[in-house]
Amino acid sequence: MAKQNLESSLVLIKPDALKNSLTGYILSQFSEFHTGLRFAALKVVSVNLALAEEHYAEHKGKFFYPSLLEYIRGYLHYPDDPSKRRVIAILYRGPNAIKNIREICGNTNPHEARQQRPGCIRALGTVIPLYDEKGKFIGERSDNLIHASANPQDAEHEIKLWFLPTDIPPTMRCFPTETSKEYFYLKANAISSTYTPGSFCFIAPGDIVWKSDLKLLRQLEKGKKQDISVKAVIAKYLINKKNEDI
Ligand code: GTP
Ligand code: MG
Repeated sequence: MAKQNLESSLVLIKPDALKNSLTGYILSQFSEFHTGLRFAALKVVSVNLALAEEHYAEHKGKFFYPSLLEYIRGYLHYPDDPSKRRVIAILYRGPNAIKNIREICGNTNPHEARQQRPGCIRALGTVIPLYDEKGKFIGERSDNLIHASANPQDAEHEIKLWFLPTDIPPTMRCFPTETSKEYFYLKANAISSTYTPGSFCFIAPGDIVWKSDLKLLRQLEKGKKQDISVKAVIAKYLINKKNEDI
């Protein structure tokens, strides 16, 4: 396996794929036998609002953004059953992982996916009309079954957004880590190194943390404003911690 081609990519099996029982089909499309890719991490995630907002930050302000958050959080496909609202997050690692996976997925829009590449995963998706609160048609929603990282920069951001280093076997971790010597607490969207009543400890001494996260946290704790939001670091520490819906 040529070292320079080794890439990591985040795949999300979205709620519509789960609802239509396509998980097994999708996993077989990406199997090591067919693609040369290996599982580096996998978890079932109840998608908290911070995670959804950070994952789709580039689409904030677009007409489909609110529906995108509802979609990835499972509200659209499981309006009456919070226990089914989840996605399967998978980290794949292997040669040319990003391009390989995107090709198997197909175009973002399922109609175009069907035309351009019959047989791709998103050819099985659907397009749904969207209306504003007055009932006026505002465009379409793409229920496209799966997410896949688009390029190495997005992959790094997304992998660090969805996974803790310890979700990944040490030999498959793709970015530098550091062992924390500090405590970090969260309260009302602010980071602190000391406990106050009502705060939530998400990192303790000895925890293995993404090095870039630790750097940001130290600066945030000192009150320095960063380009990246607190949510981008904290979202993964909130995964499956509490049920926001019940
Ligand atoms: P992902 O793998 O999900 O990130 O899709 P992508 O990389 O093919 O597309 P992109 O990152 O641009 O968009 C993320 C998601 O937003 C898509 O999966 C779609 O569900 C939705 N989306 C993106 N562009 C459009 C658009 O022009 N119209 C609509 N209705 N939805 C869009
Ligand atoms: Mg994308």
